Amino acid sequence: MPALFQAFRHGKLPEGGRILAVSRQDLNDDSYREWLQERSHEVEGAKRPSDDEFARFGALLHYLRMDLSQPADYARLKGWLEERQADVVVMYLATSPDLFTAVCTQLGNAGLNGPKVRVVLEKPLGRDLASAQEINRVVRSVFPEEQAFRIDHYLGKPSVQNLMALRFGNALFEPLWRRECIANIQITLAEGIGVGTRGDFYSRTGALRDMIQNHALQLLTMVAMEPPSRNTADAIRDEKLKVLRSLKPFTAESVARDVVRGQYRGTSGGSGGGQKVPGFLEEANVPAGSRTETFVALRTEVESWRWAGVPFYLRTGKRLANRDAQIVVTFRPTPHSIFVGVNPPNKLVIKLQPEDGLELHLLAAKGSAQGEALAPVSLDLDFDKAFAENRVGAYERLLLDVIAGRLNLFVRSDEQEEAWRWVEPILEAWQADDAGPRPYAAGTWGPAAASALVARDGAAWDEEQ
Ligand code: BG6
Repeated sequence: MPALFQAFRHGKLPEGGRILAVSRQDLNDDSYREWLQERSHEVEGAKRPSDDEFARFGALLHYLRMDLSQPADYARLKGWLEERQADVVVMYLATSPDLFTAVCTQLGNAGLNGPKVRVVLEKPLGRDLASAQEINRVVRSVFPEEQAFRIDHYLGKPSVQNLMALRFGNALFEPLWRRECIANIQITLAEGIGVGTRGDFYSRTGALRDMIQNHALQLLTMVAMEPPSRNTADAIRDEKLKVLRSLKPFTAESVARDVVRGQYRGTSGGSGGGQKVPGFLEEANVPAGSRTETFVALRTEVESWRWAGVPFYLRTGKRLANRDAQIVVTFRPTPHSIFVGVNPPNKLVIKLQPEDGLELHLLAAKGSAQGEALAPVSLDLDFDKAFAENRVGAYERLLLDVIAGRLNLFVRSDEQEEAWRWVEPILEAWQADDAGPRPYAAGTWGPAAASALVARDGAAWDEEQ
């Protein structure tokens, strides 16, 4: 709803568009609008609607009470939609994924799956390959693939779209984007926060399912894919699928060697100025003794002519030292150095958040005394500053794409299943391994084993360099 409000504020919602909220609560248009307006006061900063703006936005909102298990209620929904004669209908399933198949089946039975209807599904879609396949099978039996929009909100982030622009809109990087020039690629999705109020969901999910299977792998495909023949959804998604199919499959042995799982422990605060935070096992609604991982670091390879032998390191976690999402491409060192000292290789840092930008790390001569070592310098680009006016948030962008029928930034079912196929041996190996996750202190970069994982290749995580 906040994203739809921003789209409204930017004048991007289609003329005559209406938003229908559906739930089991006993509300009507007016009481729903009041309820939402109260919630809107919780929005911070410039994003909060003024009373006047909310009044205009509220005029687009409607409410329908529905029990999603009742066919008669779908008939009422159909009646509501028929009265309005919409050109496009977007069904956004803000439900538990357990209901995706039941709701899609009911929509199909009610004839609410015609060509102008689009269905939006949010991750997590399933918890393993079999459950994801089952959801996709049912959804596909009701909605053709081009009417199904699977959201991975990372794909809506402007910085992630910039990855495509960087690679395929510029001639500069493509000749270097290969094993001959690149030493390794790191993708870090680090969060400073803990699981907060989501202890129940998170303890059933874990970092591998929550972040690696989707967000991190989607970023990896964007970094590693071949240039698509066109800027169309299927051309792009075909290339991303090829990357997923080329990922080196895990075995029980390689999971033990190349995957590190961790779980945060609380910190007691104290005189050092540190904050007191609970450990994962002390969070609300986390079962005693839970072995769910809140941190994952892993090493993989893309088995292709372009990437053979180049390590890809993926890392994510809660309660890490910083909120920091970035992709670091480390180039190979110069073949023969004529300068004194040990010179770090060039690095391209693609920053996703909190800042959205690019840093190209180079070496330069300071222009002072002869024989002096080279100095590291960087070319920095801040996209938020460069394009401040035109930037829209991930959800606003994705919802407007659904309305416009643009599938480029949505995940196709075969991509999603391939990602599960790759993750599955890790889930199985962990199931069979009694050791459980390694503890790490909140506010650090995770278990020491994560550093050892990359050090084996002579590499280091960006913050350790
Ligand atoms: C969600 C995960 O998909 O992404 C959350 O379920 C996580 O656990 C969130 O916090 C991170 O998204 P962002 O955009 O804040 O990096």
